[in-house]
Amino acid sequence: MSKTLVAYFSASGVTKAMAEKLAKALGADLFEITADPPYSEADVNWKNPLARCNKEWFGKKKVPCGGGVDNMGEYDRVFIGFPIWYGCAPVVVNSFTEQYDFTGKKVGLFASSISSKIGKTLEKLQPHVKGAVIADAVRFPQDASGEEMAQWAEKL
Ligand SMILES: Cc1cc2nc3c(=O)[nH]c(=O)nc-3n(C[C@H](O)[C@H](O)[C@H](O)COP(=O)(O)O)c2cc1C
Repeated sequence: MSKTLVAYFSASGVTKAMAEKLAKALGADLFEITADPPYSEADVNWKNPLARCNKEWFGKKKVPCGGGVDNMGEYDRVFIGFPIWYGCAPVVVNSFTEQYDFTGKKVGLFASSISSKIGKTLEKLQPHVKGAVIADAVRFPQDASGEEMAQWAEKL
């Protein structure tokens, strides 16, 4: 039987709500990607030039993730959700995907943002997703419905 995982990173809950809706609509398992150490509210205050998120991004730092999916081998489809940060996926998402071999899996990306379009998000994450060609990347509106997202996911 085919098994689906929805893995997501979310700093302020928007992508988390989207991921939960998508997982429910697909009957998929859910996994939260976290940074190590986890981000505090002050860490992701991107309006503050000295905030951790800005230091990491402009300092081109690696951002380790906390924990992982023990049974990744069991999933045929993996949907990865995140907020768009600086026009692409947050660097912690690269650290998450780098842990696995995605050979034989269908991979789709979904994102939330204030205004940025999906842009080059797929192309930038692709080198960090070993073994799979990412099928698609979509930026959904922050209030997208589970059905809307599931329709996209089922078409991949
Ligand atoms: C560090 C940081 C960088 C961001 N960069 C962008 C951006 O480039 N474009 C954009 O439209 N929104 C940007 N945002 C806003 C988030 O993408 C948006 O608020 C998102 O829906 C939040 O999702 P979340 O609650 O799952 O973290 C940024 C937010 C943070 C914290």
